[in-house]
Amino acid sequence: MYQFDQIIDRRGYSSKWDKPLYPVAQDKPLIPMWIADMDFATPPCVTDAIRQRLEHPTFGYCDTDPRFAQAVVDWARARRGVTDLKPEYVQCQNSTVGAIVAAIKTLTQPGEGVLVHLPNYTGFTYGIADAGRRLVGTPLVRDEQGVFRMDLADMEEKIRAEKIRCLILCSPHNPTGRVWTQQELEQVSELCEKYGVYIISDEVWADFVFAPARQIATALATDYTRSHTIATYGATKTFNLAGLRAAYSIVYDDQLRAAYQKKSAENHYNVPNTLSVAAVIGAYTGGGEYADQLVAYIYENMKAAHEYICREIPQVASYLPEGTYTLWLDFGGTGLSDEEAMKRMGAQGLVMSPASEYNGSGWFRMNMACPRSQVEQALKALKAALA
Ligand SMILES: Cc1ncc(COP(=O)(O)O)c(C=O)c1O
Repeated sequence: MYQFDQIIDRRGYSSKWDKPLYPVAQDKPLIPMWIADMDFATPPCVTDAIRQRLEHPTFGYCDTDPRFAQAVVDWARARRGVTDLKPEYVQCQNSTVGAIVAAIKTLTQPGEGVLVHLPNYTGFTYGIADAGRRLVGTPLVRDEQGVFRMDLADMEEKIRAEKIRCLILCSPHNPTGRVWTQQELEQVSELCEKYGVYIISDEVWADFVFAPARQIATALATDYTRSHTIATYGATKTFNLAGLRAAYSIVYDDQLRAAYQKKSAENHYNVPNTLSVAAVIGAYTGGGEYADQLVAYIYENMKAAHEYICREIPQVASYLPEGTYTLWLDFGGTGLSDEEAMKRMGAQGLVMSPASEYNGSGWFRMNMACPRSQVEQALKALKAALA
């Protein structure tokens, strides 16, 4: 069994612990539940692979180890039942956001709009702006059960009005935790096909899905999505490797992949890092059991937090997500502005990500990828903050 209950002092090694998003009381222990990395140890299959690479004393230019793409193929088959992925469809990328920016530049011209579901991951906001494109938001709307759904009519209107040629999908969706179903992806596919829209599908959270939800690669939803999708992934979320920068893309269509590869090489930064490549090979060849136990542990954290919030903090509405390792909490019932809520939580040492980070308001995202004792501490602090 992996020791997910173990407390690791990350101070000095972690943005989450060293640079809280907003001011916190100095006389209280810090409880950082914001940025999306984990407070768990990376498993030995990763650290051993890095150590083994270090045994060779040269670190000069080298081609990406072919075991990298094969490890991605094997992981996709084992974890998500993907059977038709070939190593040549996989390209090593320095970071997911960098890969997305290159995809935006491949599919659109400066000044054009990129369609994005709101609320959206911060990286899309900056990535689109820094690429000189415009973020065109289409809100996710909640149905009678409180489930976030795409508004297809609004998407179509925006596609038409803004002459959209590129949609960013995120599945599992950060921050709402939705995992798009086959039916939803088919609807998106139909709409995109009608207007010739390409899809960038960010699936960096693909390993964090809770049954009965199932992650379906957007590219595999329909024939259209297969030939019109640039998908981005990383081992970074699952194995806590964000500091190593270790992402990759998957593009099935030969022509699209060639155009994308050309564009993603243009910044001359996007060269695989030798140790990241070793880490990903180690993770994907030996990390299956770790990933199973990790996802199960996190789901127990989610359930414990959800039940506590429903019982003890009823002014906050909590929903169990289908994927990711974060809870997306509705603060509407607290009557507090986001600023006031942050002030109160900061006074308790608690840091969560406000919806303003995601082009929204009135919600907070709580990171559950930490030891259960920290979750319990955070919940008590939240209750005290809102009392
Ligand atoms: C949806 C999504 N994409 C990408 C990233 C970041 O990936 P990277 O660090 O590889 O750029 C995150 C991090 O939280 C994320 O939530």
